[in-house]
Amino acid sequence: MNQLAKRVKREFQNRFDDDYILINSPGRVNLIGEHTDYNDGFVLPAAVNKQIYLAISDNHSDKAKLFSVDLDDYWEADITKPLVKSEKGWPNYLLGVVDQLQHHGYEVSGFDCAFGGDIPIGAGMSSSAALEGAVLYGLTELFELDISPEDMAKIAQKAENEFVGVQCGIMDQFVSLNGKEDHAMKLDCRSLEYEFYPFKFDDIHIVLCDTQVQRELVSSEYNIRRSQCEEGVKVLQQFDSSIQNLRDVSLSFLQSHQKELDPVVYKRCKYVIEENQRVLDACKDLNNEDLVSFGQRMYASHMGLKDEYEVSCKELDILVEEARSIEGVYGSRMMGGGFGGCTINLVEDSHLASFKKQIAERYHERTGKETKIYQAKVSGGTHLVDQSARSVKEI
Ligand code: GLA
Repeated sequence: MNQLAKRVKREFQNRFDDDYILINSPGRVNLIGEHTDYNDGFVLPAAVNKQIYLAISDNHSDKAKLFSVDLDDYWEADITKPLVKSEKGWPNYLLGVVDQLQHHGYEVSGFDCAFGGDIPIGAGMSSSAALEGAVLYGLTELFELDISPEDMAKIAQKAENEFVGVQCGIMDQFVSLNGKEDHAMKLDCRSLEYEFYPFKFDDIHIVLCDTQVQRELVSSEYNIRRSQCEEGVKVLQQFDSSIQNLRDVSLSFLQSHQKELDPVVYKRCKYVIEENQRVLDACKDLNNEDLVSFGQRMYASHMGLKDEYEVSCKELDILVEEARSIEGVYGSRMMGGGFGGCTINLVEDSHLASFKKQIAERYHERTGKETKIYQAKVSGGTHLVDQSARSVKEI
């Protein structure tokens, strides 16, 4: 039981009562497959050991009573009335889940909850998906709701789409809820079928370098990318009516219709089609334990995101460019929506310390900014914390 879990439990006990369950819900990294999820494509993310702990119990009232331990902030809402967005922001991730459960006909009554975490906010590690998954998992346990893993992910995603108002795909919620320790998840975002690939190497670390750049553009540009992809699909459908999404388009088909497409839309589509293929090839690399080839695909993914999908930024590009020239780095790329957040790097153990030192120095030299560096370990998905956690009461 770590300090964070103990803190959340203590805060819950101080504010509410002694009877609760504790949920652990992880953030995620994405090894490869960026901006492919909402194009019905493939992604290769993994849940990691940066997490949210959420304590929750039934309070036999009409109210959801919510407490953010990190922000030391409280909110409550009457859940028997139509739920409205809170101007505070953070309660919406929880209320959105309640709202979706109600829309799906599940019965939820009043509850108390307190949560806190160590997933860096705004770093592109899906703290919001982890929170949605935590409260959803807690509510299904409390009110004995029988929901499949696929539907859990869809409900959490819809909470974000419809209540929070961010048009994200399904990757973050799906892997946060359903990830597996020491494994990356290849997810088919169309069928929601998934397959695990061992991702545990004694001599290689996942290192995240945070640009610490505010991702102001991310939601507006994200929606623009989504509609550019849809625009491409509409044009291509005129030549093949079986096409539903970019997932159904081959590179040669796209190239043969380049003239019919707006040049920007063409670039966006080309990136998505190539990135889908990179995910499939990267999975083969994992089967062959070929991390050198895997790393090269990470660099290629970054170049596509930078030049064709145009969702990178100067700071991300500098981190990738510098990582590439540091000894012991297999691959590096921007991760998540873009315009800031982190790069993900695969770094050899024997070069880890010098990588951290050099990347921090070079980033500072070239941008005047500081990078924050996190090491991530691949963990399991959202789960109930085991019985040993209960001993915290006596501490
Ligand atoms: C954000 C979204 C995801 C995905 C990535 C880009 O993290 O929440 O659904 O689209 O961007 O790959």
